Amino acid sequence: MNKEIVCSGIRPTGNLHLGNYFGALRNFVKMQDECDCYFFIADYHSLTTHPTPDNLYRNARQILIQYLAAGLDPERCTIYLQSDLPETIELYLFFNMNAYLGELERVTSFKDKVRQQPNNVNAGLLTYPTLMAADILIHKASKVPVGKDQEQHLEMTRTFAQRFNNMYKCDVFPLPQAYNFGSELVKVPGLDGSGKMGKSEGEQNAIFFTDEPAVIRKKIMRAKTDSGPTEMNQTKPVEIENLFTLLKIVSSADAVAYYDDLYNRCQIRYGDLKKQLAEDMVNFTQPFRERIEELSKDEQYLVRVMDRGKEKARESARKTITEVRHIIGYRN
Ligand code: TYM
Repeated sequence: MNKEIVCSGIRPTGNLHLGNYFGALRNFVKMQDECDCYFFIADYHSLTTHPTPDNLYRNARQILIQYLAAGLDPERCTIYLQSDLPETIELYLFFNMNAYLGELERVTSFKDKVRQQPNNVNAGLLTYPTLMAADILIHKASKVPVGKDQEQHLEMTRTFAQRFNNMYKCDVFPLPQAYNFGSELVKVPGLDGSGKMGKSEGEQNAIFFTDEPAVIRKKIMRAKTDSGPTEMNQTKPVEIENLFTLLKIVSSADAVAYYDDLYNRCQIRYGDLKKQLAEDMVNFTQPFRERIEELSKDEQYLVRVMDRGKEKARESARKTITEVRHIIGYRN
């Protein structure tokens, strides 16, 4: 029986943080045995922020190292650079021809960017969802492991796939679903008491794989809290709920129950909770740091992984683009 096809990617904008891991990368690792997996480094998407050539190269290399450090195995999945597949760009062009300005302007991530960076509202940002659709559909993937923030992009991918199928009266593309292993899509909170963990939310808001133990402890001890509960069993304010969510991710169920009980009895000391969280974060990230250091020294291996990935990914991409070109009417 054919294995289900899976595809996903992460933008190389810096080191990976725990949001990337629990939203996406952990799923990549879990899926590599049972599915036919394509995992890429989204170095075209990162151009929307105009990185310098050095930063683009360095960050892409870092993501590769961190994919491998997290347990992606180039023998069991295809790991490649988005910019190594020109077929993706051709498919992106085809999707752009049938994507409407209105629907692209309504995408939440686009509206956020317009608000955050009014001086750099470029066409790449507007067509971000068509490029994502091309990434996924170039391999005809049906499952896409991503965090909650990507849900709307997957909805758009289904729209573009369905529109193409309808237009050309074919069923060349599947309708891919956002996926999180065994449960709902996740949103890992940041440390500033508001939204999600993310690089654009500030370095202090995220715990990175590469953070040294002292940095992790400092960030967590500074995480936002309130002055403590005043009523038994009261609802937790968002910044406290966020700390508990992080505790659930890296600590034991016993530790979570222990601090939850103290909170409910108005006896919690946030300093103790943070110390526990910091130590569990340090222990959780330690093996990643060690593997990152080792892999960073093995340039030849990294080059081999990229070469092999490119070859395998292009084989799949060429098949799709040949079929799509024929359907559209480009026939030799
Ligand atoms: P990016 O690079 O912003 O994030 C990569 C992945 O990490 C997830 N993520 C989170 N999940 C839970 N909680 C968080 N705090 C958190 N922060 C980040 C994201 O949901 C994402 O899965 N557009 C994509 C990259 C991309 C892509 C694709 C993904 C390009 N083409 C095709 C899937 C398929 C992005 O910017 O992710």
